[in-house]
Amino acid sequence: MTTPEIHPEIAHLAWLLGTWAGEGAGEYPTIEDFRYSEHVTFAHVGKPFFAYNQKTKHEETGLPLHAEAGYLRPVGLDRVELLNVQPSGIMEIYEGTVDGTTLDLVAVQVATSATAKDVTEVTRRITVDPEGETLSYRMQMAAVGEPLQHHLAATLHKQQ
Ligand code: HEM
Repeated sequence: MTTPEIHPEIAHLAWLLGTWAGEGAGEYPTIEDFRYSEHVTFAHVGKPFFAYNQKTKHEETGLPLHAEAGYLRPVGLDRVELLNVQPSGIMEIYEGTVDGTTLDLVAVQVATSATAKDVTEVTRRITVDPEGETLSYRMQMAAVGEPLQHHLAATLHKQQ
């Protein structure tokens, strides 16, 4: 199988590429706190975007929790767009900035299906450490009538 070269327009974010795994914790005023394990992959096919895939499991029961998938589209050297879809009926379009190995993302559109929970605002910060070994993120949302506030934080490690 041929492995394509990374597209030059996304090469400056190559530190995202690969599989990351680890643990996170979630909270929100309307739900019980929870802990989860997570797998994330960022892949490329030689075109100017990354394919993003995420799966989580409940830390105690081992049962699948949240999952999501999308495309990260670098725009020049210091901006990105992220299109993300969740099986809970939520679709997000983010715009964001790149500062070193940190992405700051703000959802400019959140669309919810007729039966999905109400989500109106989402922000995410994704950071990879300078050694390229640890990816951590934090996510905030305004949902189910609550103002924008913390929902998730996780720390993942690069898998070989
Ligand atoms: C690592 C990823 C995530 C995990 C593990 C996770 C986990 C959970 C869990 C366990 C709950 C409580 C039970 C339930 O309603 O299913 C919950 C609630 C919720 N989550 Fe997340 N979630 C994640 C990401 C997200 C994202 C990205 C969004 C929206 C953009 C989101 C929106 C919500 C909403 C709206 C609720 C319902 C709150 C309520 O009903 O009061 N979650 N999440």
